[in-house]
Formats: sequence, structure tokens, C-alpha cells
Amino acid sequence: MRPADVYDLRSYLALLEAHGQLVRVRQPVSIIHEAANVGATCERLQQPAPLFECIYEDDPARPFEGWRLFSSALAHPERVALALGCAKSEITATMARVLDPANAVPPVRVNDAPWKRNVITDPDKIDVRTLPIPKHAMGDGGRFITGGVVISKHPETGIGNLSYNRMEILGPRTLGMNINQWRDLQRAHAAAEAKGERLGVAVAIGLDPAIMIAAGCKYEGDETNIAGAIRGRPVEVTRGITVDVDTIPAHAELVLEGYLLPNARRREGPLAEFHGYYGEPWESPVFEVTAIGWRDAPIYQTIVPGWHEHIYIGNVLPREPLLMRFVSHASKNVRAVHIPPYTNGFLVVVQLAKKTNMGEPRNIALAAFAAHPNFRVCVVVDGDVDIYDPSDLLWALTTRVDWGQDVFTVPRAQGHEMDPANDSKGIGTKIGIDATFDKGRRPYGQRVSYPLVELAKYLA
Ligand SMILES: Cc1cc2nc3c(=O)[nH]c(=O)nc-3n(C[C@H](O)[C@H](O)[C@H](O)COP(=O)(O)O)c2cc1C
Repeated sequence: MRPADVYDLRSYLALLEAHGQLVRVRQPVSIIHEAANVGATCERLQQPAPLFECIYEDDPARPFEGWRLFSSALAHPERVALALGCAKSEITATMARVLDPANAVPPVRVNDAPWKRNVITDPDKIDVRTLPIPKHAMGDGGRFITGGVVISKHPETGIGNLSYNRMEILGPRTLGMNINQWRDLQRAHAAAEAKGERLGVAVAIGLDPAIMIAAGCKYEGDETNIAGAIRGRPVEVTRGITVDVDTIPAHAELVLEGYLLPNARRREGPLAEFHGYYGEPWESPVFEVTAIGWRDAPIYQTIVPGWHEHIYIGNVLPREPLLMRFVSHASKNVRAVHIPPYTNGFLVVVQLAKKTNMGEPRNIALAAFAAHPNFRVCVVVDGDVDIYDPSDLLWALTTRVDWGQDVFTVPRAQGHEMDPANDSKGIGTKIGIDATFDKGRRPYGQRVSYPLVELAKYLA
């Protein structure tokens, strides 16, 4: 299995397994907190992604027959590199290439889709509560779809859109769908609502990671084109059975079709949010389900909310190319950038190949703050620091920073309103940190390092 051959979740799982990035969990696991706890632990400890082969809600004797559950598809750089078909060091450049509209690869329409083999459209038989939709964090308000990609079409422009919108189960056919104000989906829903009409959408779950990555990006046009650019060939899409949406991924594991109702709002939440705290409940649009279709032997895919994969898809991959563009403008010596997912999109790391003047790290940090309002902390490091390794980063901060001299702050700058360190309007202090080595203060010795060994050889 090669990255180029991936076209659905199953082929991605085969690729992950071949690279030691998948772990099969055979013992029964509850979808109420337990599965998310395992997924979150795997993510934090950089372990392989878990595929739960036996899942239940409250009684292990009554499992979700025939279903499996998968999480953490894109939780850290090794798996993201496999998903994109590139080296870890090429992730930022690959994302820059696929986000360029000049490289768009539009999808191709097909009639047949494996998820159309098992379909329920009878309103009396639809019951989303029978699906293995997990309750994730301990403080979550209910069972939420967090890894579903919403496929929509603006009713006036006809432009397609992919997005993530958390959905809480509120009844057998009803979910509350969270849609923030500045989203494309919000504009499509508002346009339909202004005419008193409902908006048809589909929610696709269990996907080629190229589509998962695409859905987290902000883009002029249909994000399905980004997924095509990642794969280097058109994504196969199909028309809905009960909704006028014709770009539903043909190889999804599970599809919910339905309508966002006009002028209806219901309370959903709280849920673990991207900044790592629980949010408030929201009054959100109501999604009424009109059809459910699934593949034989389906795999339900989830994203552990407020944790690494959530941040990786929403805050890291779409923004690293933007960060690279801004800091490279400030200095030709930038080699790489990274937004570590464990800092929730607020801290960025910029690596220099070399330093040509003492002020360079500060100018780079200023450029980083201009790239995106969410960036609040910028750490500039040398080429010998592994920017993907938190302990290397802490080592550089500890041994290369004189905190009285190598730090500058920008008080009262605009940041994200939900950044817990800012005030409620998002105003707060940004901080640039020069964690580079040579500041002409004194000579250092050589840095200690040990080659990494393959531990399995020694610890088996
Ligand atoms: C896992 C995940 C969950 C998300 N949940 C929501 C959500 O509940 N509501 C929302 O408005 N945006 C949410 N987002 C952000 C948007 O889906 C994302 O930024 C997307 O690019 C918005 O697309 P649009 O502006 O094209 O609609 C989430 C992102 C991720 C990665």
C-alpha cells in the first residue's frame, strides 16, 4: 500500500497498519467516554491510531453489531505525512501547493457509491441514536458527531463547501448543528433562511484523510478540489438520495442526509472546544435527517474534540503555509515552521537555517503575529532543534533564552476572542521569544545528542 493508492478510509487504515501507525483494540470498549479516553491517550503519547473492533454504549452484551470505531486519523506529523504522501519536512510546502487554487483538481461524479447499498429513508425508521456516535469528554453535554464532514451548496451561487460542524443528538431524526457566524455554511444557510427555505446538506463520516484535511481549510471555492489536489486525481463524488447535493464522497463509510430548517434554533453543548476548555451551550440550527446510508461492515470515524487531531486539522495544517509565507518575507533564512497541536493553535515555532543578524528573530516574530490573529507566542529556534519534539523545544527555551533580554511583548494586540489568555474581545499580549543559540555572549560547548534507536529491537 502506497500513499498514492489511498482513496477511502479503509485504504488509509491499510497504509497506517503497514507503517505501524494503527492499533487494533479487540476488547469491548464503550462509546461513552472510554473510546475518547483511549484516543486522547494515544494522541498525547504519540501512539498509533486506535481502531475499536467491538463497541457498545452501556452494556457490553449489546454491542453495535457490525460496526467498528476509529479515531485520531491525523493526530500527529507522521500520520499527516502518510496522508499527504510526503515527508514530515514537506508537510507545509505540500499544504501550500494544494491550497493554491491554480492546483485545484475538481471532483468526478459517479452514480454508484458503496454507502448507497444500505439506506433508510422512512422517517419512522430513522434513528441516529442507534449509530455509534460517542460521548467524548467528561464535561460534554451529550453524544456528538465531531468528525463528520458537512457537504453543502450555496443556494444562489451553487458553489460547494466542506466544513466541520459539531452535531449533538437531540432526537431520533434531530441534531443541533453548530455553525459559527463567519462560515461559508452560515452564509448558505442564511441565504436559504431569508427566503423561508430549508437547506439540504449531507454529512459524510469515515473518509479518505485528504477530504478530512480539505474540510478544515478556508478556501475560495469547493474544498473538494483541495482533496483532489492532494491525491493528484479527482475525488469520486455522488448525488444525494433525498437532498440536492451532488458532491458527497462516494467512498464514505456513512452518510446522513437532511435539511437545516429555517428559523429554528435549539440548544446544543457544551463540548470540549479547540482552546482546550469547555464552551458554553449554543442556540444552534436544527438538522433534520431524511436518509442514512452506510457501507457494508461500516467504520464510524470520530475526532476527539479539544485535542490534538482537532487542532491539527483546524488550526495547524491550514495555517502553516500562511505562517511560512509571512516569516519567509521577513527573513530568507527561515527553514521550517510548525504550530504544535498541543498549544491549540496559539503558539508557533519558526526554525532558522542560520542567523545573519541579531535582530532577525524579532522581525520574524513580528511577521508571525501579522500572519494570523490567533498566533500569540512565537518561538524562533535554530536548525538543530527538532520542532516536532516538545522536549527539544523546552530544552531550547531553557538553555538558550535569557528572559530579561531575549523576549519582547506586544501588549493590547488583537487575538482570538476565545483565547483564554485574552479578554472577552480577544485583546491580549503577544510575546516573541528568541531561542536561538549564538547571541555573542559567551562560547558554548558542543550539544549532546544520541542517535535514536528502534526500541522494539531492545524492549520486545
Ligand atoms: C474537528 C473540527 C470541529 C469543528 N467544529 C466546528 C463547529 O462546530 N462549528 C463551526 O462553525 N466550525 C467548526 N470547525 C471549523 C470549521 O469547520 C472549519 O474552519 C472550516 O474550514 C469552515 O469552513 P467554511 O467556512 O467553509 O464553512 C471545526 C473544525 C474542526 C477541525
